[in-house]
Amino acid sequence: MYNTKRITDDLHWVGANDRRLMLFEGVYDVPLGVSYNSYIILDDKTVLFDTVDKAVAHQFFENIEHILNSRNLDYLVITHMEPDHCAEIGNLIKKYPNIKIVCNTKTQTMLEQFFDFKIGEDKFFIVKEGDHLETGKHKLTFYMAPMVHWPEVMVAYDETDKTLFSADAFGSFGAIDGNIFADEVDFNHRYMNEARRYYTNIVGKYGQQVQMLLKKVQALDVEMICPLHGYVWRKDLNTFIDKYQKWSTYEPEIKSVLIPYTSVYGNTQNAAEILAGELAKLGVKNIKMYDASVTHPSYIVSDVFKYSHIVFATTTYNMGIFVNMEILLNDLTAHNMQNRKVAIIENGSWAIMAGNQISEIVSKWKNTEIIGNKVTLKSSTKKTQREELEALAKEIVMTM
Ligand code: FEO
Repeated sequence: MYNTKRITDDLHWVGANDRRLMLFEGVYDVPLGVSYNSYIILDDKTVLFDTVDKAVAHQFFENIEHILNSRNLDYLVITHMEPDHCAEIGNLIKKYPNIKIVCNTKTQTMLEQFFDFKIGEDKFFIVKEGDHLETGKHKLTFYMAPMVHWPEVMVAYDETDKTLFSADAFGSFGAIDGNIFADEVDFNHRYMNEARRYYTNIVGKYGQQVQMLLKKVQALDVEMICPLHGYVWRKDLNTFIDKYQKWSTYEPEIKSVLIPYTSVYGNTQNAAEILAGELAKLGVKNIKMYDASVTHPSYIVSDVFKYSHIVFATTTYNMGIFVNMEILLNDLTAHNMQNRKVAIIENGSWAIMAGNQISEIVSKWKNTEIIGNKVTLKSSTKKTQREELEALAKEIVMTM
C-alpha cells in the first residue's frame, strides 16, 4: 500500500525506508535505518527525481502509481548513478516507456555501465551547467556537483518554489519516522550525529568540491532542500549549511579532546584514561574516548571531524601500529583529514615502533601539528609515565 508524503501541493515524497539494512554501502551500520528519497513534481509535465534502492522497490512503485493517479511520467531526473538511487531505472523505463531521462553526459555513460539495455538518444534530455527544464509552472535549473559524491553528480534548483534537489548533499543516515521535515523532529539531538557520520564518511574526502557546491547554493535563493537521504529542510537552513561549511573546510566544531585508543591487555587504556582524567582536572569539557577495536571507524572518523584535538593511544603490534588503530589512521588519511592538533601515546613490551609510525602518517595531514612529548609506555604506566601524562595534559590545554 502507498505511503507518500506531501511536501507542497504539487511536490510529493515517494521514497521508502529501510530499517533492516545491515551495512549501507557494505560498510556502515545504520542503527536509525536509512531513507531512500525520491520526489515527484506534478506539473503540466510530471517529473521524478531519482529512483530508490532495490530493497524498497515495491513500496516505491506503489507510491509513484498513487501520486501519478493514472497520469504519465514524463521525466526522470538522475542526480547520480549510485545504485541506492538508480537500481530501479530499468524497471521504471519498462513501466513508463515514454519517459525522458534528464541527466548529463557522464551519467549517460554510466547508465550503460550499470545496465544492459540500450536507451535511444531521443529518450535523453542531456543537460549541462545552468541548463533549464520547464515543466509548466516549474522551472528547473541544473548545476554540476562533481564528487559530491560521484563524478557525475548534479543538483536541480526549482526556481518556482525555491527548492534545491541536492542529491546526496545535505542528506543523513536515519529513516524518516513519519514526519518529513527536519523542523518537525528533534534533529539536533536525534539525527545530527548521524548526519555528520553520513557526510564525513561518504563525502568527507571531497571538502573542496563541497565548497564549490556551497558557493553555488549560496548564490541561489533556496528556501527548501530535498536531499536523497533523511529529512527535508524548510526552516533554519543555515544551521545545516553552517555545519557543511565547517565539515568541508575541516574546521573543528568544538575545542576539546578526542582519545581513540586500542589496548591489548588494558595498559594502554589505563594511560589513555589517566590522560583524560588529567584533562578533566584542568577544566577540559566534553572529552570523548573510543576503544577503536570496539567502535566502527565511521563513528570515530565522524568525531575526528568534530574535535580540535586528537590523542591516539596504541600498542606496537607486528612491528607496527595495532591493527584497528592502523585501520582508523588510514581511514582518516583517506578522508583527507587535516587541520588538527594531535598527541601520541604508544606502548610495547619490546621494539616499540607505533608512535613513530603514527607521527609519519599524521605528518602528511595538511595543517596538522603534533603537540607535546610522545608518551612511551614499556608494558604499563609507571610513576614516570604518569608524570609524562600529566605534563602532556598541560601541553594540550596550552594549545586550546
Ligand atoms: Fe545515496 Fe551517492 O548515493
